[in-house]
Amino acid sequence: MTLPQPAPEALAHSQQLQREIARRIAAAGGWLSFADFMAAALYAPGLGYYTAWMQKFGASGDFVTAPELTPLFARTLARQAAQIMSESAPHILEAGAGSGRLAADLLCALEAQDALPETYSILEISTDLRQRQRELLARQAPHLLNRIIWLDDLPARFSGLVLGNELLDAIPVHCVAWQPGEIFERGITLDAAGQFQWQSRPATGRLLQAAEAIAGACPLPPGFESEVALAAPAWAAAWGERLTQGCLLLMDYGFPRHEFYHPDRNSGTLMCHYRHHAHPDPLILAGLQDITAHVDFTALIETAYPAGLELLGYTHQAQFLLNCGLLDDLATLEPASLPYIKATVAVQKLIAPQEMGELFKVMAMGKNIDAPLIGFARGDKSHTL
Ligand SMILES: C[S@@+](CC[C@H](N)C(=O)[O-])C[C@H]1O[C@@H](n2cnc3c(N)ncnc32)[C@H](O)[C@@H]1O
Repeated sequence: MTLPQPAPEALAHSQQLQREIARRIAAAGGWLSFADFMAAALYAPGLGYYTAWMQKFGASGDFVTAPELTPLFARTLARQAAQIMSESAPHILEAGAGSGRLAADLLCALEAQDALPETYSILEISTDLRQRQRELLARQAPHLLNRIIWLDDLPARFSGLVLGNELLDAIPVHCVAWQPGEIFERGITLDAAGQFQWQSRPATGRLLQAAEAIAGACPLPPGFESEVALAAPAWAAAWGERLTQGCLLLMDYGFPRHEFYHPDRNSGTLMCHYRHHAHPDPLILAGLQDITAHVDFTALIETAYPAGLELLGYTHQAQFLLNCGLLDDLATLEPASLPYIKATVAVQKLIAPQEMGELFKVMAMGKNIDAPLIGFARGDKSHTL
């Protein structure tokens, strides 16, 4: 695939990040795990894809997420948010808020439903995105700014709704190769010309344990390569003791474990996004492209459950949005008007099986929530995990 050529300024930026990653590789003795490489490529202070100044979201960026597609996504989600808050406490915490679009639209939708949270906290790793979120919220919902709090860390205690849309796919993963008799971790070194290249080492420690458990549960062909997420399940499990009452609602692309580690998916799920082109090579365009991995939803609940979180629902995004009344929201728009036509195209993208409808999933995990959640009323697929 031919990718668009970056502008000279962007290339210079990328070279600066490549030097920083090369420095980290040297400091680590010549080899960096892919998780550390991905962390640097996405989040190295001031240089990483998410931490630098470049436009990432929307038509002029690299990819479009559900909240960026249409405000109907937030309006529909607001019903589920309102129910969770009424069952717990009137607080929302959004992790990985991107441009701030979901926060703005969700707050406005909740205001229209007379269900505003008392606080809307944003946990965002990128200082550049925090600034963009602040600016967008100041423009779109200035009267609600006093409810919004930016956090540096997970709070010690929280009750209410914890929300993450396309958060987990951006959390670094390890790359693993299952060879006959031995499991290898695939990491990154520098070749003679100073370019990044893959190199494998025997897997050790927690990664080896997790990879062995996967091999025990899924019939993997020899040489099978994929990703193993340690940090994303740990992030979810960290809520086990912090969440007093409420629910984590996580929306992302991914599968249950037996589909994630399916023999047909033998080169893994890494995907990079650059100017609306998707490709699988994370070693190029350092700092200029998003790097993502699909989510193993079985690993999430497997890690979060012993930490005290119960599975409250798991289904396809399409089913979740339909359960929450997406089509009713669409029907409130004037038929044949321009907003209606635009919304129809976006809704099609959100729910069509070949678009975001089936690949994207919604998982709810929580504590002390008694009522069944409306988003999972029909078509709950928890049994597939
Ligand atoms: C793919 S973007 C999704 C943005 C937004 N939720 C959306 O749907 O448009 C991932 C977001 O998660 C943030 N992020 C990644 N890891 C994080 C972490 N550990 N804590 C908080 N934010 C994180 C990134 O900076 C970015 O804002």
